[in-house]
This record gives sequence, C-alpha cells and structure tokens, in this order.
Amino acid sequence: MVSVDQPGDDITSDPCVIVIFGASGDLTRRKLVPALYSLAREGRLSPETQVLGVARTRLSDDAFREQLKEGVLAHGRGSDPESLLPWSDFSTRVSYLSGAYDDSETYRRLEELLVNFDLNAGTSCNRLFYLSTPPSLYAEIIGRLGASGLNECEPGWTRIIVEKPFGRDLASSNLLDEEIHGVFRERQVYRIDHYLGKETVQNLLTFRFANTIFELMWNRNYVDHVQISMTEQVGLEHRAGYYDIAGVVRDMFQNHMLQLLTLVGMEPPVAFNSKELRDEKVKVLQAIRPLRIDDGVWGQYIGYREDRDVNDDSVTPTFLAFKLYLDNWRWQGVPFYLRTGKSLTRKTTEVTLQFKQVPHQLFQDSPDLTPNRLSLFIQPNEGMHLHMETKVPGAGMKTSPVNMEFDYNAGDLPDAYERLLLDAIHGDSALFTRSDEIRRAWEIVDPMLKDWESHSAPPLSFYYPGTWGPAEAAGMMHREGREWLHHCEEQDG
Ligand code: BG6
Repeated sequence: MVSVDQPGDDITSDPCVIVIFGASGDLTRRKLVPALYSLAREGRLSPETQVLGVARTRLSDDAFREQLKEGVLAHGRGSDPESLLPWSDFSTRVSYLSGAYDDSETYRRLEELLVNFDLNAGTSCNRLFYLSTPPSLYAEIIGRLGASGLNECEPGWTRIIVEKPFGRDLASSNLLDEEIHGVFRERQVYRIDHYLGKETVQNLLTFRFANTIFELMWNRNYVDHVQISMTEQVGLEHRAGYYDIAGVVRDMFQNHMLQLLTLVGMEPPVAFNSKELRDEKVKVLQAIRPLRIDDGVWGQYIGYREDRDVNDDSVTPTFLAFKLYLDNWRWQGVPFYLRTGKSLTRKTTEVTLQFKQVPHQLFQDSPDLTPNRLSLFIQPNEGMHLHMETKVPGAGMKTSPVNMEFDYNAGDLPDAYERLLLDAIHGDSALFTRSDEIRRAWEIVDPMLKDWESHSAPPLSFYYPGTWGPAEAAGMMHREGREWLHHCEEQDG
C-alpha cells in the first residue's frame, strides 16, 4: 500500500470582505465559516480579511459568533480549534448585519460597513459576495447589489459566489444567468459545485494528466464500460421541503454527477486554466447522447412518503441509475453507468473503469479471468485500486485477482469549501462552473425531467433503505451481462 502526505499551500490571499447572504442558515455554520476558520488558522487568509454575515434573523454580533463557534466545534477540521489561532481572535473579524433582502436600507448599511472595513481594517475594496439564501432570493439580492453600486469597487475586485441549485430547469437557469449578467460580468461570477473542490476529484485530473500510462488506455479501445457511483446513506435530513420539489436529478445528477462525468470523459486541456479546462468539460457535455427516462431506473426509498413534509403520493425520485453514451471519438460505444441515491447501504463516491477482457485466454486452469478494473475512490477512504490477475504460487498456471492499492492517507484533507473559497479570493475560477456548462447540463436533463414530470404514472421503482437501490437497477446491469461494482466493500475487507 502506498500513501501520500498532504501537500502544503502557503500562498496568502488578498485582504477582502466576505459577505455571506443567508448567514443564519446551515451552510454558513456547517461549511463556510469552518472553512474560513481553517484557512485563517493555516495562514492562508490574510489577517485583514473580514467575514460579514447578512440575514433577516435579528442577531447581535456576539450571538452570531456564538452560533458559528458551535458550528466550528461540531464541523471544523483539525483536532483542537483553539490550538493555533484561537476562535476568540478569529471571531473579532466576524460581524453580522440583519436586514430584509428587499429593503434598500439593508444595502445602504452594507455599503457603510464595507467602506468602514476598507478604511479601518485594510480590506482594500476587495469584496466577495456569497449567495447562500434560498435561490428564490438570488435575483432580488443581485438586483439590489447592482442598484446600490456594490457590483464593483475600484481599485479592488468584486466577485460573487452562487450556491446551487442554479435554476430548477433550463428556462429558470437562463433567466438567472440574465439577471446575474445584468449586474456582474461573467468573470466576476463563481458558480459553486462543491464536488469540484474535493481533493480527490481534482486528483482525477492529476491522475489522468500527470501520468502517461493511464491516459493511453483511457478510451474505447481498452475500456469496456465506466461506472460512477455517488451513493448516500442519509435520507432527507430535515430537507424534505426542498428535496421533494428537487428530487435526485436536480439535487445530484444535473450538477455533481455530470461534473464528475466531465472530468472522467474530457480530453486533455492544453493548459490548466479556467478557460481551457472548462472548454474541455463543455465538450463532454455536448457529446452526451440525449437522455430518455427509459434509459434509467428511477427509485424512491420506502418510507420517504412518511416524512411529514412529503406528499403521500409523491413520485419524487430519490435514486437514479442511468446508462448514457458520449458520442465522440474517444468514447463511442462505451456505456457510462451512473448511479446516485439517498438511503442506500453506505456513502461512497467512486469511479471505476472496467477494461476489456484479454483477447485470448491462455490459462486453462483459470477460465474466468476478471477483467482489469481501475477504481478511483473520491470519498470516503480516498485512494485508488487497480484490480488485476496474478499467478497463484505453486504448480500449474492458476490465476487469482489482486488489488494494487494507493491510499490518499486522508485523515485531514481540506474541505472542498476551503479550496473553493480560497480560489475565489485568488480569482481562479477553474473549479467553478461556467454559464455555458450550466446551460448545457440543463439542456441535457430538462427534456427528460419534463417527460418524467408530465407522466401521469412515471415508472418509479421502490427500494428499502439500507440497500443498493431498487432490484431494477441490478436488473438493468444483468441484462447487459454486467453488475454494479461495490469496491468500497472490498476496502472494508
Ligand atoms: C448536496 C446535495 O449538494 O450534496 C445533498 O444537495 C447531498 O443532498 C450532498 O447530500 C452530498 O455532498 P457530499 O459532499 O456530502 O458528498
């Protein structure tokens, strides 16, 4: 087993004010502030940087800080949050503004605070807005930021991070884009997909493009099929109101799943920068053959409808297993099997390339050779397995499959939000989704979603929580002489 130490990153960022709209929500407490605090402790946030929460809830600065401290203790990275930079020191850089999002007075006070930070804290007119409110408020906030002239600040920079969901279909996503572009230029906009901030998702790129050997086999000549699984053990987690309207396609497939697919399927970009990388990702999305609901198995876990915020007859899918093709030179004819769902056996995100069987079987003692497989574990237990046949020691030529394992040794990998927040502060949008990527992703799923939602009785399969999903999903693979691979279980063994 091989492992790797965590690389360092000692670049300190520009001083700035990070303004979080929707600051009293869960994301701020569980992800954003713990990520900012980790960055600060590691010296990667400039000491002048300020965090300003904006939300409707009335709260004092101290009460806000107290909420955040609990979040850091429960969800922060590292053993003892008090050890390096005490929370009490960091929290002096955190403040709160309560106000209605549709009230111009809120933005007047916001501007006052921002100017004050520039004058007294040295934030140099650099502003990073983070939209973490319900998406229905995005247009209002963006419009008001524009009307108050907060969309730019010379001589500094102004950027905006937009949380998913980015629209709920093609039309609403296009409209949101228009609203954003009415106020911000595309290069100021950072649409976040936190999967791209995961270390091991980025490692997919280094794995492919910093090594010679894998790329040679990464195509239709050697690959039999590809599987991408993003399974979750959790169910609704008090998010039924959102989830029952969104469902698995909007929650995971249109964004995280398709993003991961682009990284697996893309051509090598000519440079690792935001333009070249995203140009190649868009080409993968363009190559996806139109999706039909019959190409997938749509599931709902038994018990889902019992949640009090879910309709008794809800047909919202919580599971999707899908076969799709990329119509391009590299992947023509290679099926990609994608699977994601809630309330399944366990949480795992993994990508497996199953290679073709050897062209001629020499070893009569082992008639059933297992084809080579390369599995990349995104989470948990980040690493890689190469599954291959070796000779069993002794007489004869019997073979048996073994795994060559690489382990990321990932005890304390930075959280995705740390990487993405820092990239946005550095002005690097490579790991954020560009507007044409989002549009194309919606163009792919929109017809299929409309078809599903207009069905009077859509073909929904049910499954028990704690399983790998509906039997139909296994059936879909068996019909093709294949099976879902659960390499994560081998890891346990
Ligand atoms: C979010 C989805 O975007 O991603 C959630 O809305 C899902 O439903 C989550 O649970 C999964 O993210 P992670 O990082 O825990 O794999």
